[in-house]
Amino acid sequence: MKSLLYRSVARADLGSDDIFEIVRHSSENNGARGLSGFLIYQQGQFLQLLEGEASQIDDLLAKVRCDPRHHSFEVLCEGSIERKSFPNWRMHRVIAPDSNAMIDRIAEAQEHPLPSEVLSAAVEFFETNQRTRDNQAA
Ligand SMILES: Cc1cc2nc3c(=O)[nH]c(=O)nc-3n(C[C@H](O)[C@H](O)[C@H](O)COP(=O)(O)O)c2cc1C
Repeated sequence: MKSLLYRSVARADLGSDDIFEIVRHSSENNGARGLSGFLIYQQGQFLQLLEGEASQIDDLLAKVRCDPRHHSFEVLCEGSIERKSFPNWRMHRVIAPDSNAMIDRIAEAQEHPLPSEVLSAAVEFFETNQRTRDNQAA
């Protein structure tokens, strides 16, 4: 199995209904493909973790990369895993008030520890967003 973490930029006019629909459709599809993971939408960007058989992830990504609801797709890390960290999240949207709370939610929910590079990349994503927010507020 492998896990893959990517970030992308949401289309500017995407609303909460659109994101709800992405998560609904994803959790329906991913169950049948044996995939799990999370989706985070923060400051107009997506951060998504996918875990499962490499061929299933690669097939799905071929579609996701071309999805017009986002752009600037960038794989942050990809590697083999022995066990899923979120076996019961067919696609779970993590929602939290700030970046630290996001990291806490993910850490609390993991059933097996996330690969350290996945965690570091996620922390960096949140920290960058937090700095952007702090600068906007200043
Ligand atoms: C940010 C983002 C994440 C997505 N994640 C998934 C996913 O985990 N699983 C999935 O089936 N589709 C996901 N999609 C939707 C796919 O791009 C595509 O629309 C869908 O897989 C097509 O489903 P179908 O084969 O049932 O037509 C995502 C789309 C976006 C924009």
